[in-house]
Amino acid sequence: MSSAGEKRNQANRTHGKRTAPRIANVSLQARIAYSDTGSRPSGSKQQCLNEQDPPSWNDGGVPSAAPTEEAVDHPVTMRLQRFLARAGAASRRGSENLMTAGRVRVNGQVATELGTKVDPLRDEVTLDGMPVRLPDGPVYLMLNKPAGYLTTMSDPQGRPCVASLVPRDRYPGLFPVGRLDMDTTGLLLFTTDGTLAQNLLHPSKHVDKRYVAQVDGVLRDADLEPLRRGMELDDGPCQPARARVLRAADARAVCPCGIPAGTSCAEVVIHEGRKNQVKRMLGKIGHPVLRLHRTSFGPLELTGVSRGSWRLLSAEEQRKLTNACR
Ligand code: URA
Repeated sequence: MSSAGEKRNQANRTHGKRTAPRIANVSLQARIAYSDTGSRPSGSKQQCLNEQDPPSWNDGGVPSAAPTEEAVDHPVTMRLQRFLARAGAASRRGSENLMTAGRVRVNGQVATELGTKVDPLRDEVTLDGMPVRLPDGPVYLMLNKPAGYLTTMSDPQGRPCVASLVPRDRYPGLFPVGRLDMDTTGLLLFTTDGTLAQNLLHPSKHVDKRYVAQVDGVLRDADLEPLRRGMELDDGPCQPARARVLRAADARAVCPCGIPAGTSCAEVVIHEGRKNQVKRMLGKIGHPVLRLHRTSFGPLELTGVSRGSWRLLSAEEQRKLTNACR
């Protein structure tokens, strides 16, 4: 805070140290290790492998990572009315009214000046005596989706859906980015960041999705040529895909015990997201899909997460994801 905050900083300097963050639930909270206890298929274990890499904020004017030592030494400030609006206290204009009415305090002092700046990590803001805090920043996690779950956060018919596999209570607003068929397994990204999701799914962004498919019949490389050229499906032409026949060593994701006789495995990379696209493409060349598994989504690889489990994305993965949308 520019006025009260200055006094506080002065006091802290006098004592040779800065105060610990009091509004620190924002992302320090994400450093706390946890395991999820929500409902899940028996035998699966939910996990979080990246407690040390908590989700970052990406809303301009707010720190973009968990408060490091450096952030503590170089506080990032924002205007109080903006802080109040982001915290959901009121609209920006409404927040200004709250301030001028003397209902807002920063570190115990009434803040009526509209230019007042606060450090969301360290200043304690109250409205009518009640603490006001920023919501947690966007969350990004990957689920290793098992078969038998609908890609939806609720199903009126009560069928199993992916919502039961992710920590939706801890991260309200979590939703899947795109969809996998009920019987498709593998990487499913979840976020609370609507803008990023929209960008990732926009056809113009050409975000690659890589699948391993086990198909019926003996597949030769030449059979995949129509996929590579770009084939016509009943809802229009497909963009050219990358496709290759896999040997058993590369097909373990769908055939862990080797490729059964009379079947084959292929890797198919597409950047569109049409319904049943991979199944329809392979079906059209005479090789119906028996099993389908997604191994990557844009820059994300399905690693470090067992079937039915989820993990938060690392800061590096988040960065790559953001770059993939540029
Ligand atoms: N293509 C399909 O056919 N199914 C999926 O679940 C994903 C891509």
